[in-house]
Amino acid sequence: MNILLAYFSRTGCTETLAQEISKQLQIRGHSIEYEVIKPSVNYSWIREVARDWPRYPSIAASIVSPTWREHHLRTYNQVEEDIQPLTYPNVKNFDCICVGGPKWAQISYPVARYLQIVRGIRNKKIGTFATFGGPPLKTFEVELIEKPLANLINRLGGHVVAHVGISSGYHEASIMPLFRLASRIRFRKPIKEFMMGSEYANTGIAGFCANLEKEVN
Ligand SMILES: Cc1cc2nc3c(=O)[nH]c(=O)nc-3n(C[C@H](O)[C@H](O)[C@H](O)COP(=O)(O)O)c2cc1C
Repeated sequence: MNILLAYFSRTGCTETLAQEISKQLQIRGHSIEYEVIKPSVNYSWIREVARDWPRYPSIAASIVSPTWREHHLRTYNQVEEDIQPLTYPNVKNFDCICVGGPKWAQISYPVARYLQIVRGIRNKKIGTFATFGGPPLKTFEVELIEKPLANLINRLGGHVVAHVGISSGYHEASIMPLFRLASRIRFRKPIKEFMMGSEYANTGIAGFCANLEKEVN
């Protein structure tokens, strides 16, 4: 397969995941092209958080109430951010597209803009990938990035056939002690058990590549 790996990475964590996915897909005989999504302006993390801040109470409510979560995911107003011109503005000639980025409450703003401006997504089989600072808490981390990505891509006519989310164990806002504690309480494991190089990450990446191959061939 001729695969486009499109990703945004602000501090390098998602780039490491993208490189590992690329390596595994190449081992399986696929050819890879890259679209490194770059914001037009690099804002501070405080400014980025502030743009989404009004939606945080809704996110908090969606963690405790499944009914609210459903409503939140249906009505969430995704923040976007200007990005630099694309190398591949039209992806119709690729067999498959992989799109990835960090979790920024939900979809990172440059990835959200990428999906709005890229052409040729309709009817494409798509794999999505993400990193997040915390452990893979089912609702707060995994669902709140996987589902918004799938919803947005579905609206554009694409079909998500694989997803992988890995903990980076890193957050610019220095809230990692909280996430480390959450990992111990929820999983009784240190967060490194969910980071790149762990069995969790290796299994997730292998499953992601296998699902892509199964669905696209
Ligand atoms: C604006 C912003 C929002 C974030 N929101 C979350 C979050 O909701 N959950 C989380 O675990 N990490 C969150 N993070 C941390 C990143 O997801 C994490 O550091 C990621 O691995 C960074 O990937 P990168 O190095 O590819 O940019 C956030 C970071 C920023 C800058």
